This record gives sequence, structure tokens and C-alpha cells, in this order.
Amino acid sequence: MTKKNFTVAIDGFSSCGKSTVAKAVAKKLNFVFVDSGAMYRAVTLFIQRNDIALDDEVAIQQALDNIHIDFVPNLEKTQILLNGEDVSEAIRTMEVSEYVSEVSAIKAVRKAMVHQQQQLGKKRNIVMDGRDIGTTVFPSADLKIFMTASPQVRAERRYAELAAKGEEITMEEVKENLAHRDHIDSTREESPLRQAEDAIVLDNTDLTQEEQLDFVLNLVREKLTN
Ligand code: DC
Repeated sequence: MTKKNFTVAIDGFSSCGKSTVAKAVAKKLNFVFVDSGAMYRAVTLFIQRNDIALDDEVAIQQALDNIHIDFVPNLEKTQILLNGEDVSEAIRTMEVSEYVSEVSAIKAVRKAMVHQQQQLGKKRNIVMDGRDIGTTVFPSADLKIFMTASPQVRAERRYAELAAKGEEITMEEVKENLAHRDHIDSTREESPLRQAEDAIVLDNTDLTQEEQLDFVLNLVREKLTN
């Protein structure tokens, strides 16, 4: 009999460092890592580039039918391909961040992405981070983590990330964007961001990346030995 695959779901607010932890856990355990937010960002980029109105259901569905997203694991970082083009950098701009929550709230977008994410998790050991992984994508995940950090720390991290890339942005704009996305992500009708009942909270406000990694790895080991 083949052993069942192991699924780790990491959810939480914007800029909590979910992907950083998820990536490190996957690397350590040799699991597949999927950043589900990158998928919603790629869809947003496609919609923006093609000037598609968010209330045009037919055009949105057509766009979804024409979008193919791939993850290519590299030594340093996983590339995300949108119809074969590496958009890893293009999806991280403030322009995309400003619309991604609105795009992610569209029912057809969620349906398509959740389906693709579930396919990616089939028959593989996987760590996936996002907003609805433990509640909707993998409700029976072996381990569910809900990450949080103080709004100030999250804004500082995000600001540093964008500033390092040369984006001209103020701390106030970053804070506003985070608050705006958290609000839409948590109040939308379709699979809103919320903590799964069986999720374990990881508040990383005062934790180093190593401490966060150890926290999750210990939980995985516990689950594997029980
Ligand atoms: O993780 P991130 O900040 O890159 O995600 C970008 C946006 O995508 C986020 O504001 C909400 C949306 N998202 C979602 O709705 N569901 C997910 N599973 C992941 C992200």
C-alpha cells in the first residue's frame, strides 16, 4: 500500500511571512511548495494587461480559460510562469497588489484557482500558503497553521521588500494596501480568509525565521509520529 501524501496548509493575513515559512518548510522536508497568492497575482496581471473589466463575467471566464500557470522550482527561488512567461517579479508590484483582492473575490476566479490548487496537491507532499487553504482548498490537510503578526511589523516587512526593489512608495501607502486587502480578503462571500477551527496559530511578530521554521517542523514531526 502506498503511504498517503502529507499536506501542510498555511493561511493568514497579507505580509505575515507565510510564503517565507512555507518555502523553508518545503525545502527542509523536500515537499512541493505552492504560493497560492502568486496564482491570484498572475490572474490579476493577465486581467490588467488585457484591460478586462472585473464585472465582465464573460471576458473573465474567457481569460481564465486562456490562463495557464506553472511553477518551476529553481535552486534559489520558484519561478511562476504565466502562459510560459516568467512573471515572478511582475506580479509583486504595487499595481498588482492594488487589484489582487478585488480579482480574488470573483467567484469564477476562485473556482478555477481552487481547482488547480487541489490538482497540484494530489498525490504529493505539499506545503501551500494562502488565505483559504485550510478551510477550502485542503479542508482535511494534515497540518494547518494560521499565521499572524502585528500590523506594524507586517507593514515594515512589506515596505522593506518593496523599497529594496526600488518601488517608490510610502509606509502609509503600504499600510493602507495591507488594511484594504485584509478587509476584502476577510469579508468576501467566496471562501473568506478565516482561521480553520483545527488550525494552530503562529504569531511571528517577535520570532526569527529559524524559530518559525522550527515551530512548524516540530508540528509536522508530531503529526508524522502520531
Ligand atoms: O499571499 P499574497 O499577499 O501574495 O496574496 C495576494 C492576494 O491574493 C491576497 O490579497 C488575497 C488573494 N489570495 C486569496 O484570495 N486566496 C489565496 N489562497 C491566496 C491569496
